[in-house]
Amino acid sequence: MSGTAGLALATRGLRKNYGSRHALDGLNLSVPMGVVYGFLGPNGAGKTTTMRVLTGLVHSDGGTVEVLGKPFKRGDRHRLFDVGALVESPTFYPYLSARANLRELAASGAHVPSKRIEELLDLVGLCDRANDKVQGYSMGMKQRLGIAAALLSDPKLLLLDEPANGLDPAGIVAMRDTLRALASQGKTVFISSHLLAEVQVMADVVGIVAAGKLVREGPLKELLSMQGVVKVRVRPNLVDSAIKSLQPLAAADRLIESDREEGWLAVHVSADRAEDVNQQLAGAGIFASGLESGTDLEMLFLELTGGQAVGGEGTFVGLGAPANGSATTGKETAA
Ligand SMILES: Nc1ncnc2c1ncn2[C@@H]1O[C@H](COP(=O)(O)OP(=O)(O)OP(=O)(O)O)[C@@H](O)[C@H]1O
Ligand SMILES: [Mg+2]
Repeated sequence: MSGTAGLALATRGLRKNYGSRHALDGLNLSVPMGVVYGFLGPNGAGKTTTMRVLTGLVHSDGGTVEVLGKPFKRGDRHRLFDVGALVESPTFYPYLSARANLRELAASGAHVPSKRIEELLDLVGLCDRANDKVQGYSMGMKQRLGIAAALLSDPKLLLLDEPANGLDPAGIVAMRDTLRALASQGKTVFISSHLLAEVQVMADVVGIVAAGKLVREGPLKELLSMQGVVKVRVRPNLVDSAIKSLQPLAAADRLIESDREEGWLAVHVSADRAEDVNQQLAGAGIFASGLESGTDLEMLFLELTGGQAVGGEGTFVGLGAPANGSATTGKETAA
């Protein structure tokens, strides 16, 4: 495969069909070594299918996969020794304790020192309940045990499908810390999630999929800097003049949205241009009563995946070409 040097995980043209449905439709992922990679996409986008192919649970219908620098083909499941995975609900022996389950797992693979099992139980916060039968565990406790199991062999690459599922806030924070710590040791963490906010604080690199295809991939910081927005509030009767005065900025940057009732305008320029926006308005004799700037991964996600904007009450009038016709209400900032 070309262009995959230095990648922990790469897929090229990956396809998987379920009947006539293309769950993966030529997916190209490039996951660098030593990062937390947030794999994002709406329901049915193909995240779990990707995880299943990567762990050999299902066979692809085309394309190639490279894991830790080597091709990963049918019959290569033994190569997953260096890979830890949590895909779907983890299965454990219900009548055994968490500790006994981890021991069983350890016995079936390469040697794992028993100290490691205790460390992992501690890491995922299950020490107190480690002797209880897993059948009596809550969903979040099973999920914690699943994360411990994925880490058992001290893998170089960790594949986690929606690992935050069922975790309480403390569990999510602990998991985030654990995954960041692993990346800082040079391990690669590939994690799927719906929780944009979660990914935003944890990932170095993000890949967004929709309908089995990659629609955007890159360092999170880069994606966010491209997704800047400056929102200003003006008197509702001045909205039209404000839009006119901001046109020169929008011409370069393509998009202004407005909420006429509330008087909010969203100008899609990088967040550090708030001053320019303000100056432009002042030049037209319009003074803002509110100004906010920031970046919005959620907006990017919705635009790229063709989703509907959250809220939906306000009417935004796009000037120029709205990206995929999506709009936000600005209500969230008005609150
Ligand atoms: N076993 C299966 N049989 C038939 N269709 C399937 C099967 N598994 C997945 N699909 C289909 O493949 C597509 C991708 O599903 P997948 O589970 O990979 O999505 P996902 O991104 O993980 O979604 P979610 O966010 O809901 O978990 C969907 O259209 C789904 O209906
Ligand atoms: Mg899924």
